[in-house]
Amino acid sequence: MRIVFAEPAKTPAGCVAVFAIPERSLLGYGAALDKATQGALKRAMAASRFAGKKGQILSIMAPNGLAADRVVVAGLGAAKEMTRRSAEGVGGALLADANNAGQKALSILVDAPSGSPLPAAELAARVALGLRLRSYRFDKYRTKEKPEQKPTVTSVTVYVPGAATARKHYAALEPIADSVFLTRDVVSEPPNVVYPESLAKRAKDLGKLGLKVEVLGEAQMRRLGMNALLGVGQGSRRESQMVVMRWDGGRRGEKPLAFIGKGVCFDTGGISLKPAGGMGDMKWDMAGSGAVIGIMRLLAARKARVNAVGLVGLVENMPDGNAQRPGDVVRSMSGQTIEITNTDAEGRLVLCDVMWYAQEKFDPRLMVEFSTLTGAIIVALGHERAGLFSNDTRLSTQLRDSGAKVGEKLWRMPLGSGYDEGIKSDIADMVNSAGREGSSILAAQFLKRFVQGNRPWAHIDIAGTAWSNKGDATTPKGATAYGVRLIDQFVADHYER
Ligand code: BES
Ligand code: MN
Ligand code: ZN
Repeated sequence: MRIVFAEPAKTPAGCVAVFAIPERSLLGYGAALDKATQGALKRAMAASRFAGKKGQILSIMAPNGLAADRVVVAGLGAAKEMTRRSAEGVGGALLADANNAGQKALSILVDAPSGSPLPAAELAARVALGLRLRSYRFDKYRTKEKPEQKPTVTSVTVYVPGAATARKHYAALEPIADSVFLTRDVVSEPPNVVYPESLAKRAKDLGKLGLKVEVLGEAQMRRLGMNALLGVGQGSRRESQMVVMRWDGGRRGEKPLAFIGKGVCFDTGGISLKPAGGMGDMKWDMAGSGAVIGIMRLLAARKARVNAVGLVGLVENMPDGNAQRPGDVVRSMSGQTIEITNTDAEGRLVLCDVMWYAQEKFDPRLMVEFSTLTGAIIVALGHERAGLFSNDTRLSTQLRDSGAKVGEKLWRMPLGSGYDEGIKSDIADMVNSAGREGSSILAAQFLKRFVQGNRPWAHIDIAGTAWSNKGDATTPKGATAYGVRLIDQFVADHYER
């Protein structure tokens, strides 16, 4: 899909979109079209529930007096409540509508209502970003789709006064979509295509954007003592990997921010085998690593003025004659020992070694980790918000506020020494799993033991938000890439020099 910006000229033909705000108030271009059609737009609004609210769409077919054969009125919502994010939603809604209607080309006439915090050029760029994000589709394995089953829109023209400025804004936003798409791609790929080595290779390819990417294999991780991670992968025919991606856009010598991701490329549960129903979902048990790879891509692509390092632990959790057993005891890189009580609580085993490595090697200013860690976080928060666990209130607030701006919501969950009882072992320093009660918190309490000192750390459990069965205005159903925009915003808000 091609998106271009142009100065407004005479009213285009084809499918033309204009904006309105409550209550049924057309902006300039809409009012002009209404006049040319002798009031068709106002009559259509009056005859429907359309009021100009955010996300509302009304279409008028074959209006008299215009070359256009379809006029779409899109609601922006109240001018002073408009945000970048709400503008993106309008773009997404317009694209979905045009595809549903089978349109090939879409023209959008952009003006900003008075009192809008976004000038027209910025509004136009955000609408375009929303369109682009909504256009994502993972269809490479479909060979038999009929044309009517495919999206029809191939070109979008955004008409706005100051088109050059809008184009410049949009060019700065495009890396967001490209990086979100990379994350959605790797999370959507089936597990016979994305496995530790192939995912490491995709990360390695990002070297062309200026990232320094290093891949460690099993022999190197064994030398480092990363036995907790290696134990998870030992039942797999695929070799476990750790990928370290560095972006040095900040001050020389300044300690980096560390982003860490769980990359269980497939989680069968291991010997503590999961039930068959829904097991295929566990291809996206690497969504945390997918997010971190997308984050690092985005920081590099937009040349963020920050030092950051992204680390992902990539394994496959399989049952096998050589698989880890319930009852095994492993010694993590930190020296702490872990009794494996359930081989399906594997994510924390991968993460504890990657976290330790990150701290030993980079002494990061802070660590933010993403993982599809527990089914219980879905029970607690559903698919609306990810669970945030942290030892630092400032970091928690920053993450929550930055996430809110980009529609990636968080809810802070508790930690506390009272939970230590739940991970006590009779034979080792801790168990990896102690049943269902409070299991998201116990997982976080486990991870906290691998944070050195008071280093600010956040664990974000994205089991409920990494994949969506319904989608939203800018996210088709499927892989969401949750976390990529959140961290991009977080870095921009607080950590760029
Ligand atoms: N990858 C799963 C968690 C998960 C479940 C993610 C559903 C997305 C959707 C994780 O490795 C796991 O199996 N967790 C167990 C932990 C339990 C054994 C303590 C769980 O949540 O049941
Ligand atoms: Mn598991
Ligand atoms: Zn898992």
